[in-house]
Amino acid sequence: MSESVGSEINIESELAIPTIDTTFTAIVAVAENGVIGRDGAMPWHIPEDLAHFREKTMGHPVIMGRVTYESIVDGLGEPLPGRTSIVLTNSEMDTPVNVITASNIGTAIAEADICARGRHSTDQAFVAGGASIYTQLLPAVDRLVVTRVHDEPCGDAYFPDWDRSEWTETARDEHEDYSFIEYERPSE
Ligand SMILES: NC(=O)c1ccc[n+]([C@@H]2O[C@H](COP(=O)([O-])OP(=O)(O)OC[C@H]3O[C@@H](n4cnc5c(N)ncnc54)[C@H](OP(=O)(O)O)[C@@H]3O)[C@@H](O)[C@H]2O)c1
Repeated sequence: MSESVGSEINIESELAIPTIDTTFTAIVAVAENGVIGRDGAMPWHIPEDLAHFREKTMGHPVIMGRVTYESIVDGLGEPLPGRTSIVLTNSEMDTPVNVITASNIGTAIAEADICARGRHSTDQAFVAGGASIYTQLLPAVDRLVVTRVHDEPCGDAYFPDWDRSEWTETARDEHEDYSFIEYERPSE
């Protein structure tokens, strides 16, 4: 064997960009005026929406910002059970076994992809806010699961503007005070 063969570099694998096989879905409850939060919490209490969130996200990784994570732990007394919370933060945090921190969006996506296919055996992951995380990750999601709250409350956190022409509505379930609506971004 010549020396050069032994030291050959596999250009293809050296340049390979990791493939993300996971489908990312943003899940949000948003009022008619775009409000999603007030004072670090949601400005409404809709138990059916909490059950809907639980049902959709159970058994999957869920990416969220540090403020949203803290509001979930305040409310539940623990991180989301049955899911891996991937928390974006620039701070040091204590992390229970089902919580992973990420200091940038790329790491959060990679961790969600690894967790989905590894510990959760799924090809789906969720993006659960808050406002800053929806803004950064909306371009990367393939599906939207929206609870449209039929109200216009005061708030200080908003869902980012999104171009509905880029999305196809795939499901709608109307209720008096809210509607569950799902959208997909058609693949090009
Ligand atoms: N209606 C809904 O469906 C819904 C869902 C979720 C949240 N919410 C509401 O949204 C509000 C919270 O939204 P928010 O925008 O204020 O906070 P957030 O997005 O939950 O968290 C913001 C924090 O995330 C971290 N972060 C964000 N981008 C990062 C990045 N690229 N790299 C590293 N860390 C990053 C930073 O944490 P550090 O400061 O630790 O660095 C930042 O302060 C609350 O009112 C909540 O109730 C509503």
